[in-house]
Amino acid sequence: MLSKHSSCSYRYANQIGSIRSTTNERAARMSDFDPRGYLNDVYAKSGPATSRAAAEALEAADPLAHYRELFHIADPDLKYLDGNSLGRMPKATVAAVNDFLTNEWATELVDGWAHWIDQAQVAGNILGSATLGAAPGQTLVQDTTSVNFYQLCNAAIAARPGRKTVIIDASNFPTDRYILAGIAEAQGLNLVTLDNDGTGGPGAVAIDADCELITPEALEPFLTDDVAIVTLQAIHYRSGSRPDVKAITDLCRERGILVVWDASHAGGAIDLRFDEWGVDLAVGCTYKYGNSGPGSPAWLYVRKSMQTQLGTAIQGWFANHDQFAMGPFFEATDSIRRFQIASPSIMGLRAVETSYNMIAEAGMTAISQKAAVGTEFMLDLFDAWLAPLGFTLITPRNHWQRGGHITVAHPEAKQIAAAMRKFSNVIPDYRVPDSIRLAIAPLPTSYTEVWDGLDRMRALVESKRYLEIQDNGSRVT
Ligand SMILES: Cc1ncc(COP(=O)(O)O)c(C=O)c1O
Repeated sequence: MLSKHSSCSYRYANQIGSIRSTTNERAARMSDFDPRGYLNDVYAKSGPATSRAAAEALEAADPLAHYRELFHIADPDLKYLDGNSLGRMPKATVAAVNDFLTNEWATELVDGWAHWIDQAQVAGNILGSATLGAAPGQTLVQDTTSVNFYQLCNAAIAARPGRKTVIIDASNFPTDRYILAGIAEAQGLNLVTLDNDGTGGPGAVAIDADCELITPEALEPFLTDDVAIVTLQAIHYRSGSRPDVKAITDLCRERGILVVWDASHAGGAIDLRFDEWGVDLAVGCTYKYGNSGPGSPAWLYVRKSMQTQLGTAIQGWFANHDQFAMGPFFEATDSIRRFQIASPSIMGLRAVETSYNMIAEAGMTAISQKAAVGTEFMLDLFDAWLAPLGFTLITPRNHWQRGGHITVAHPEAKQIAAAMRKFSNVIPDYRVPDSIRLAIAPLPTSYTEVWDGLDRMRALVESKRYLEIQDNGSRVT
């Protein structure tokens, strides 16, 4: 499994007529910042990536460095490289949640609903503007990514009557694959799984993909006039690859196909521009680079002009036009609220608002540039330290084709990841079968934290002490 990823050489065809932009145009659209040039300038003064002075110099020049102070850091020695799984806690979240408990819930009681009632939209506008490049009225913060995904896929499929095929990729996050398979089974649809990682799946078909990345050129042959929806990740959860969201959306739209993007690993790491790119539908979570806490409410985005073209897949009372008339029939309202199912978690929304206001203040330009520099820096350390120890890279080397994490593979990855926690006080995360993800969360993670974490990882693997690790039996990896 995944052997085809043992290294990712980058090919990028651009000759297909209907896929108009060139590789250079795509690169420029996806990022106009050059982390390689930036790093080379720093190294020229500080010494190479392998000297800690390089990390210190990057930190000294980091315009976001002061944000680290705004997070609760219980153990200053811990090197936390897992912000792509669960972000650190902003100190302001404690105050915001406490304030909600004491000054809203405790005192206002049920009267609070007078101003809580549209809070999913308020939080959605904050999140959409801060991280998605979305104008107000197109984003809701509610439920889980899974529920939002189920809703939007169903609504999109219903909006393409007569089309019986739905497409996903094998490397997609399991919840998306399982939910789409369930929908396909319930509705008698033909599910095509683009096998971009060698793991197969329902209706698997071979596709040419480096680092799991699906290019418009590779996707195009599968886009028949029977396809209702395609769903992909804006950053792949395992490899960290970043597809060209705009080019794929355009390509599908030309064929009447809707794309549902899962941007869980992209939001708060890369500069998403949904309105500008013409994205129709997307979902994502808030607990990774969004720093809103475990199980914090997720989001969905439906482009304004698309909203009344879609039905309400789960007809909850919040979507009803006159919600408090409590009438006998459901009539979907015509705003983004038609995708809201039920009572939002106001406490969860307070955490989301707090952390996304912080992101808005820092700005996605600076955040995405730090993610690009940080991952490029990690690649230099990978080349110098990890590759000689038998690690391979499964993340693209082009900075515009990745997000906030890199992924390295090793036959003993599971033991190494566990040993990093136990012996080195470094938290990465492990993903089956042989991958370790290493992230820079631009607001709380410092460059020296990244350097120290990878230095400890190198020392641990060199010592082979990870071989002492026995399976701890945990269900969570
Ligand atoms: C890409 C992606 N999609 C969906 C999910 C699942 O999100 P939830 O548990 O909020 O439904 C995750 C969780 O990590 C994810 O990484």
